Amino acid sequence: MTRSPATSRWTAHDVPDQHGRTVVITGGNTGIGFETAQVLAQRGATVVLACRNPGRAADAQARIASAAPSARVSTLALDLASLASVRRAAETLRADHPCIDVLINNAGGMRRHHNLTEDGFESTLATNHLGPFAFTGLVLETLLATPDSRVVTVSSIGHRRGVINFDDLHSVHRYRNSTAYFQSKLANLMFTYELHRRLTAAGVSTIAVAAHPGNARTEFGREMSAPARAALSPRLRAVTSWLLQSPQMGALPTLRAATDPDVHGGDYYGPPGRAQFTGHPARVESNTRSHDTAAQRRLWQESEQLTGVTYPLPRQPSDPHPPRIDA
Ligand SMILES: NC(=O)c1ccc[n+]([C@@H]2O[C@H](COP(=O)([O-])OP(=O)(O)OC[C@H]3O[C@@H](n4cnc5c(N)ncnc54)[C@H](OP(=O)(O)O)[C@@H]3O)[C@@H](O)[C@H]2O)c1
Repeated sequence: MTRSPATSRWTAHDVPDQHGRTVVITGGNTGIGFETAQVLAQRGATVVLACRNPGRAADAQARIASAAPSARVSTLALDLASLASVRRAAETLRADHPCIDVLINNAGGMRRHHNLTEDGFESTLATNHLGPFAFTGLVLETLLATPDSRVVTVSSIGHRRGVINFDDLHSVHRYRNSTAYFQSKLANLMFTYELHRRLTAAGVSTIAVAAHPGNARTEFGREMSAPARAALSPRLRAVTSWLLQSPQMGALPTLRAATDPDVHGGDYYGPPGRAQFTGHPARVESNTRSHDTAAQRRLWQESEQLTGVTYPLPRQPSDPHPPRIDA
């Protein structure tokens, strides 16, 4: 597919033909994930919707099938807040799909109240970072076996307000839902940049890329206060359109990161401009803190220790222990 260069706006029409490619998308049943999955399926990709709620996953699968009857869409049970579920899902995926061209770590949320998962992780951190870290590591061999594959991780403008609190990663001493969310979204970028460095050092063709949707009207606000939920409602579109865009627009940065041949490892895509709230996707910059390589390495090591998942990549000089390959 050709596109007029430089000044043209990147849209869903710029997604190249995806026949013969397999894309796995977490949280593909609604919001940005659903819109991303729908476009990729319409372009011919084999799409796996990795979702925690089987009913909502089946409903999304049916909606995509009714819009594109020839679409190849399947579902996979995956609760990112449970390491047992992550391991089961990764095992099923590896057994069913010898190739994965793109893994999109899209699922995410913000828990209103402090909650520890069955693994003892703070729930927002578990869903948004530790679960995706483990899932990616457990399917990495399949990605590595697929030429030019990509890991796309969905972050947020909110990363700018994030701090990785290594002294209290699970917010046991103090919990604020926004603080936990911003930490997790900063972690998404640090994970991407550290993974990019490790993939580059290994000399493989798989790349790691990040994206963010700006602000989009999705179900994201489901655990927010009533006024915040009201502000996200499409009914207020006329007054909030400078701040919020449609889920279709919100999916474009992810779609670009996943499919544009000009994307490079370590890139970050989102709406352009200073605020990055709305607009067609372009390469954007994340904040200085996200590029702190010492913090990236420390987060990687903490994530390995917490999840017990070690990536099948050559050891880095900073790694404390020899790698243990999880099968
Ligand atoms: N909307 C925005 O303005 C905005 C801004 C910045 C970044 N983002 C990011 O965009 C991504 C998608 O969010 P969205 O706006 O599309 O929100 P959404 O409409 O609420 O969709 C979130 C998706 O994540 C899934 N999910 C939540 N917890 C999960 C878990 N434990 N295991 C597996 N899946 C889980 C949800 O599944 P269920 O349907 O079963 O709940 C749903 O499919 C998130 O990473 C979010 O942080 C969104």
